Amino acid sequence: MKIDEKEIIRQKEIMDKVKTKNPAGLLCKIVTLGCQQNESDSEKLAGMLTKMGYGFTEDSENASLILFNTCAVRENAEKKLFGKIGALKLLKEKNPDLLIGVCGCLPQQKVMEEKFKKSYKFVDIVFGTHSLYRFPEILYKAISDHKAVRDIADIEGEVSEGIPTLRSNGIKAYVSIMYGCNNFCSYCVVPYVRGRERSRDYRDILQEINELSKSGYKEVMLLGQNVNSYSGGLDFANLLKKVSDIEDIERIRFMTSHPKDLSDEVIDIMAERENICNQLHLPVQSGSDRMLEKMNRRYDIEHYMGIVNKLKSKIPDVALSTDIIVGFPGETMEDFEKTMELLKKVRYDTIYSFIYSRRYGTPAYDMPDVMSEEDKHKNFERMLELQNSISLEKNKALVGTVQTVLVEGLSKTNKLMQSGRNEGGKLVHFKGTNDLVGKFVSVKITEVNTWTLTGELI
Ligand code: 5AD
Ligand code: SF4
Repeated sequence: MKIDEKEIIRQKEIMDKVKTKNPAGLLCKIVTLGCQQNESDSEKLAGMLTKMGYGFTEDSENASLILFNTCAVRENAEKKLFGKIGALKLLKEKNPDLLIGVCGCLPQQKVMEEKFKKSYKFVDIVFGTHSLYRFPEILYKAISDHKAVRDIADIEGEVSEGIPTLRSNGIKAYVSIMYGCNNFCSYCVVPYVRGRERSRDYRDILQEINELSKSGYKEVMLLGQNVNSYSGGLDFANLLKKVSDIEDIERIRFMTSHPKDLSDEVIDIMAERENICNQLHLPVQSGSDRMLEKMNRRYDIEHYMGIVNKLKSKIPDVALSTDIIVGFPGETMEDFEKTMELLKKVRYDTIYSFIYSRRYGTPAYDMPDVMSEEDKHKNFERMLELQNSISLEKNKALVGTVQTVLVEGLSKTNKLMQSGRNEGGKLVHFKGTNDLVGKFVSVKITEVNTWTLTGELI
């Protein structure tokens, strides 16, 4: 269900009230942890803050509001956050007018409520994922009442349209097409903190992308926890076709695809349409059927390899990436070796691997371990070593080829070089001028390492 338009208008009126109440020149520092969905939510926070008269800073000392948009997927994200907040306590004592806010997935967990109340009293604003659209009201309350505001709504199943957005990039844009997840993989906290699946109306999505195209965006990334079960008036395959018909959007990517739901039709559309990138993120999590069953993934390796083979035969240059969890409860060396075999068979371009982290409230929380933490870490390292050698080999095969690169600006690591990405999503460095930013150029690859390609403009 859509959040009532009147409610969004009411929030916009509150934005004006904050703007008149605050002195000009206030700055906010937004710290985004976690996934692309969070980055996309932070762009909405930034959009609302702009309308409320805030500017932005990276420097905590200059900020009058520091806002953490948090992740709850693994324990280290939580530790990182509390470390960062703890470090601000002194600053807050020095500057009592400083507002500190925490939002996103972490506070949406019930267990966090007490923690904020007891140990992090100096945090002024706490709100969860379902309250994002109410941020203006929450901030206004904190400013006017000079006391902590905690707003963890339980209501879910809603989609909000019309929230102002300040995108961090003028060339490629994240576009959420759906929110939440119904899959309940046994290790994962996402369905609990982001709620059940709900899709945006396809007309709202198309309107947003049309506007992006008119403002000069060249690339869109369609976002959802499981885009293949999109159901906003069209199925995902038909949404993709309509997005692909929009003029001047030259690259379309989407994530994440669940292997149980990726249809042949989507693969065919990827193969047929020029502007849908030959790139797919297809999380496998484990190479062992026994583990996949315990993870509640609802596919087996035979099914997964069926998709991979179809992709490779229809789109020979497809760039594949995946997520892997090492050390899921009950994983044996034999299970782990099956994941290693899978990596050798699929030969992904990139993998994102994680050591399993127990998440309170998930079905896997109580499942017993059979492997020591030390062995899990050793396996993790072995896996990275294997994947690094595969990534390097795959990159070496690109030496001498010409790659089409969408230029994004000066490289973060080498200020003498421009950087951008090829169709497969790989980072490419080359010598070039700033006027190329936002354009597609051809780069002949001359050198590679595990993670990046370097070449010459042709
Ligand atoms: N522990 C480790 N990794 C996890 N992921 C999700 N939950 C956990 C967990 N509890 C990983 C999965 C998912 C990615 C986004 O994060 O691999 O695909
Ligand atoms: Fe988590 Fe599974 Fe949903 Fe992905 S599909 S968000 S891993 S529950």
